[in-house]
Amino acid sequence: MNVPFYEKIWMYAAAVIIAGFAITVAVGYGASALQPPSHVETIDPAKVFSDPRFAQRGVTRTERGATVVMVGMMFTYNPNEIRVPAGKPVTFRLTSVDVTHGFQIVGTNGNTMIVPGYVSQFTTTFAQPGEYLIVCNEYCGTGHHLMSAKLIVEATP
Ligand code: CUA
Repeated sequence: MNVPFYEKIWMYAAAVIIAGFAITVAVGYGASALQPPSHVETIDPAKVFSDPRFAQRGVTRTERGATVVMVGMMFTYNPNEIRVPAGKPVTFRLTSVDVTHGFQIVGTNGNTMIVPGYVSQFTTTFAQPGEYLIVCNEYCGTGHHLMSAKLIVEATP
């Protein structure tokens, strides 16, 4: 088969680029131990509601701040409305029972993916009391655009 010279150049260039991507993935996996976003904590997505970490969902307040436990599912969050204190660190612990969802607290730096099989966790502090919208920013199915929740940040006395 007679392959023209320029065609060959592009073929080899494409092969080098593909090899480069494959090496990047291999190095990321092997050397850097890359994992899905958040800290590495796994959970059986079929048993989320009976898992002690997620059996009790909602907000737990302490002197120092609050912890929010929430589950994402097609096409809502459980619970769907939460109240947290302003000016104190709030730790969110999230997981999914079905597909990958997003979790974005609009207008804040609270933003993570919710991946089935993993617990996503992040901590943030809300300086401003008020009502915040939580939206799913990962396409998760036909009801994706309906998937939201309400976060109420209450002024602390
Ligand atoms: Cu859940 Cu999009």
